Amino acid sequence: MTEAQIGLIGLGTMGAALALNIADNGFDIAVWNRTAAKTDDFVADAGPLATRITATRTLEELVSSLAQPRAIILMVPAGDIVDKQIAALRPLLAPDDLIIDAGNALFHDTNRRAAAGDGPFLGIGVSGGEEGARFGPSIMGGGDRAHWDRVAPILEAIAASYGGQPCATWLGDAGAGHFVKAVHNGIEYADMQMIAEVYGVMRDGFGMAAAEIGDVFENWNQGPLESYLIGISGKVAAATDTATGRPMLDMIVDAAGQKGTGRWTAIEAQHLATPIPAIEAAVVARNLSSRRDERALGEKLFGAAPQPISRDEITLDQLEQALIAGKILCYAQGFEMIRGAQEAFGWALPLPEIAKVWRAGCIIRSAMLNDMARALADPSAQNLMFADGFADQLRGTHAALRHVVAVGSLHGIAMPALSSGLAYFDAMRTARGTANMIQGQRDYFGRHGFERMDGGSDKHGPWVG
Ligand code: 6PG
Repeated sequence: MTEAQIGLIGLGTMGAALALNIADNGFDIAVWNRTAAKTDDFVADAGPLATRITATRTLEELVSSLAQPRAIILMVPAGDIVDKQIAALRPLLAPDDLIIDAGNALFHDTNRRAAAGDGPFLGIGVSGGEEGARFGPSIMGGGDRAHWDRVAPILEAIAASYGGQPCATWLGDAGAGHFVKAVHNGIEYADMQMIAEVYGVMRDGFGMAAAEIGDVFENWNQGPLESYLIGISGKVAAATDTATGRPMLDMIVDAAGQKGTGRWTAIEAQHLATPIPAIEAAVVARNLSSRRDERALGEKLFGAAPQPISRDEITLDQLEQALIAGKILCYAQGFEMIRGAQEAFGWALPLPEIAKVWRAGCIIRSAMLNDMARALADPSAQNLMFADGFADQLRGTHAALRHVVAVGSLHGIAMPALSSGLAYFDAMRTARGTANMIQGQRDYFGRHGFERMDGGSDKHGPWVG
């Protein structure tokens, strides 16, 4: 029997798709799932690819079916299950056998697992949903470079590619890959929320039908906003519910789910003191969305917030421009968070390479990312919003963002992510802010002291006796 080149544990949606992708790229793979029936179904559905798949019944069988040194991908739910799986697997392995966690792990857990010293370990962030996993995801690698190099030929072969370059990149030690995946998801949350907000202007302000809104997104997807998320938003808005014949979107409950990666990003950004207000606003918006009963009560008490907006008050062009500005600002925040983590965690996270690995395969892939990669490669690159091309785009679009947020708020349409993006933009172009008042207050009540504008040595105000 041929020994498989790689193993995979966990045949859920993502695991099964990844295993088929690996087999499809010519690699022999051995798989194991806790429930054997799932393994049987998986092999039965694999068609001609089944010849490259070894279905195993026990962990021991999985291990013995692999070529040495072994490499085994875990595709199990993040958290304790990963630890339990490692604990069950490690005793069966040789010292140089490699375990690869490809789930959405919290990067602190990946740091801990990598530091455990019980054997080679990689944590890889895999983005692209089921279709990506099956036909080419974006892969953000973390762990020892030498361990990555061992499996890079497989990971690069199964990844999406952009201009012939695979979107699978080693980004740093230990949890670096999972950290970058978390920031990816934070940007994903903000991008999705901003799209939902302009959808709100069109639905509640303009009174547009879902299909018309779908056309707008489809149209925008031909321009600067071209991206996976705008593309699928167009398709979601255009779809009809087969059960009722009504627009599918109108039949979906307005409470967003979340598995927690956006929340992790927001929490970590606070620890790092890196401002990502648009991403935080998007996490808050998901939490608010789930409070359906309270929102209904609020509407009864205060009247429904959204009021009609005429098409002269906000044009579709202005909406598009607002979204362009918002998108640049939310990606800029995400990249700045990654820059902040470099120093805090001692990772040399390569910003241009990260932009490149996101150009294809992942959920936030977008036409803008190639330009972002170029801008971030400039050795003097600072915040993306200051990079030449993006500064030009912001100069051309920030007035529309302000207009949309202002008119929207006058008409009761909540735009937390877009307005946070705008506040970030304004704060980041205000040389003299208002924190002097905060410092005065802190000194008044707590003698905390302040720096003086004239460089003088007196650190307290006259209120400190
Ligand atoms: C991806 C996605 C994916 C994520 C889902 C659900 O990059 O493919 O980020 O990893 O798990 O999008 O995330 P939420 O449940 O948190 O929305």
